[in-house]
Amino acid sequence: MSLPSSSSWKPIFKRITFSLFAIAALLGMTGCDFKGRMSTFDPKGPIAEMQLEIFYITVWVTLFLFIAVGGALLYAVWKFRETPENKNDPIPRVGHGNPLIEVGLIAASILMLVIIAVPTVQVIWEQHELPVDSERYRERYGDYEQNLLGNWYDGDIADGEEDEVLVIKAYGWQWWWSFEYPQLDGVVTANEMVIPRGKVVKIELRSKDVIHSFWLPKIAGKVDLMPGRVNWMWIQADEPGYYYGQCAEYCGDSHAYMLFRAEVVEPDEFETWIDRQQRTIEAPEGYDTWGAWLGATNQDESLANTPFLKGAKAYFANNCSYCHAINDMSMGNIAPDLTNVKDRKSLAAGWMENVTADNQVDVPKQYENLVEWIFHSDQVKPGNLMYYPSQGLINYINPPLGDDGQPIRTPMTLEDAENIATFLQEI
Ligand code: CUA
Repeated sequence: MSLPSSSSWKPIFKRITFSLFAIAALLGMTGCDFKGRMSTFDPKGPIAEMQLEIFYITVWVTLFLFIAVGGALLYAVWKFRETPENKNDPIPRVGHGNPLIEVGLIAASILMLVIIAVPTVQVIWEQHELPVDSERYRERYGDYEQNLLGNWYDGDIADGEEDEVLVIKAYGWQWWWSFEYPQLDGVVTANEMVIPRGKVVKIELRSKDVIHSFWLPKIAGKVDLMPGRVNWMWIQADEPGYYYGQCAEYCGDSHAYMLFRAEVVEPDEFETWIDRQQRTIEAPEGYDTWGAWLGATNQDESLANTPFLKGAKAYFANNCSYCHAINDMSMGNIAPDLTNVKDRKSLAAGWMENVTADNQVDVPKQYENLVEWIFHSDQVKPGNLMYYPSQGLINYINPPLGDDGQPIRTPMTLEDAENIATFLQEI
């Protein structure tokens, strides 16, 4: 048997190359999910809808350009191809320098840019301007006034804020988010913000360190969080649900793990949530404050005799309270607020999920995640600042180094991590 000559290999190679290309293209297309949880093709609010409209305008204009330019090219290649008949003809006249064509092309390019630019600038403007006088908004949602806090929120509102829409201050940190509700008794949450359905919400965006970007694909995006300045946009969500968001600006080691979530609930449920965030964390029975209880446990270890109390003890012993807040019990403010962390369906800025298929908290999974995150946060999220500097605030910036040149970690036992998890799920 002899091998085929090199020329008969060619069609086979061509066929293989073509097949591989087709398979790769098919695989690539399986990634397209127009209803996916971070799909911009499935908008659930007016801002995301406007942004999608611009996307389509841009797609149609560029598609037209592609067909027009590509078509002209194919036509020219075909019409002026070499054939046995014209082989010896002179080269056709070159149209270069024809003023009519050149001016025409410039005008056409400008026209295309204008078609894209006008609606783009309009939407940039609209998302940066509360829809107070927007006819489009009124037609669809009725009175703008229904968005003002005093008209739908029955709880305590900060003085003078009744005639404002709900404001959320969003802060970007390496690599997590905090969300503050300054008009509603300064409620703070982390990584999962809760917003009322059908209400305009003003999001103020600030950074605590480097540039981040707020992107909640089905509701709105993207606006950058810049150090030293306040950006803002308004958003509104039309359907209750659990929405997925992500930092969209490279911001260091764990940028890809800097996710966040928005829980959209009915306005009355929103009030319930705010109430829950404001509750006092009672000290253990027989003590006025957690500090008093903690002092007593220093004399008598046996006072921390349940997993919950052992967890509370370990929480303070490991200096968690230096950085984290839990209402009036723990006052740190440089790490995610842990008030009602048990209500959250994700951990570690959305990277660890404990949410069931019907959008409830998966309690056993949450425990598992809490333990893993507390005990081994370095393996979950490289570069995170919780792992090493648990020895005090100063070490946050300048941790002491060990023999291996790596920061020394305050030892935490697995038992501590488990008890802290229990504590956080019960508090
Ligand atoms: Cu924050 Cu990327």
